[in-house]
Amino acid sequence: MSKKVEIVKEAVLRVALPEDVVSISKLWQKFMKYNAQFDDSFTVKPKIVGPFARELQQRLDDPNYRLAVIELDGDLVGYCLSYISKKPYFFKLGKFGFIGDLYVAEKSRRLGFGRMMVKDALDFFKRKKVKQIELLVANDNISTIKFWEKLGFKTLLQWMYRRQD
Ligand SMILES: CC(C)(COP(=O)(O)OP(=O)(O)OC[C@H]1O[C@@H](n2cnc3c(N)ncnc32)[C@H](O)[C@@H]1OP(=O)(O)O)[C@@H](O)C(=O)NCCC(=O)NCCS
Repeated sequence: MSKKVEIVKEAVLRVALPEDVVSISKLWQKFMKYNAQFDDSFTVKPKIVGPFARELQQRLDDPNYRLAVIELDGDLVGYCLSYISKKPYFFKLGKFGFIGDLYVAEKSRRLGFGRMMVKDALDFFKRKKVKQIELLVANDNISTIKFWEKLGFKTLLQWMYRRQD
């Protein structure tokens, strides 16, 4: 007689702790590698994970920052880094929210974790009375653009560049 074993995985969204910073930085490295497939402008320096982790650590206690993670059976499988920023003085808008990084590990995608983390960021901005939320996405990252559109975001501008010697 064969026994059917059901594996139930438990996912939790929570604020990042100091001990998460190294795991988050490793996810960040994957995030940047993912971005670099669209354009080499996103290629990061070698041996940069350590300095990035130290910078992240300093942001943990900053009230203008929100760093949330998804923990799945003890492993971090996603993170979202958001913060409050300010427009140049001449704009009426004043402060705005910025979603800087959002990443879900490949094997954990399409399970609702991205949506959960964006909701958490929007709730954070709401508590801080921030009314406009912005982000940047690579032009060729079509599937992620679909994700953002599904969550109610629209294109504000096109970020262009050229290179020269
Ligand atoms: C973008 C990303 C964070 C989405 O995370 P996710 O956990 O897979 O997304 P969710 O499961 O919460 O999806 C939410 C909705 O977005 C849509 N969506 C998600 N991925 C999609 C895709 N590849 N193509 C089309 N629609 C997609 C789905 O329709 C989903 O709606 P549903 O629940 O009705 O199916 C994830 O794919 C990722 O980390 N990508 C690589 C890094 C990246 O591009 N980050 C964003 C930088 S701006």
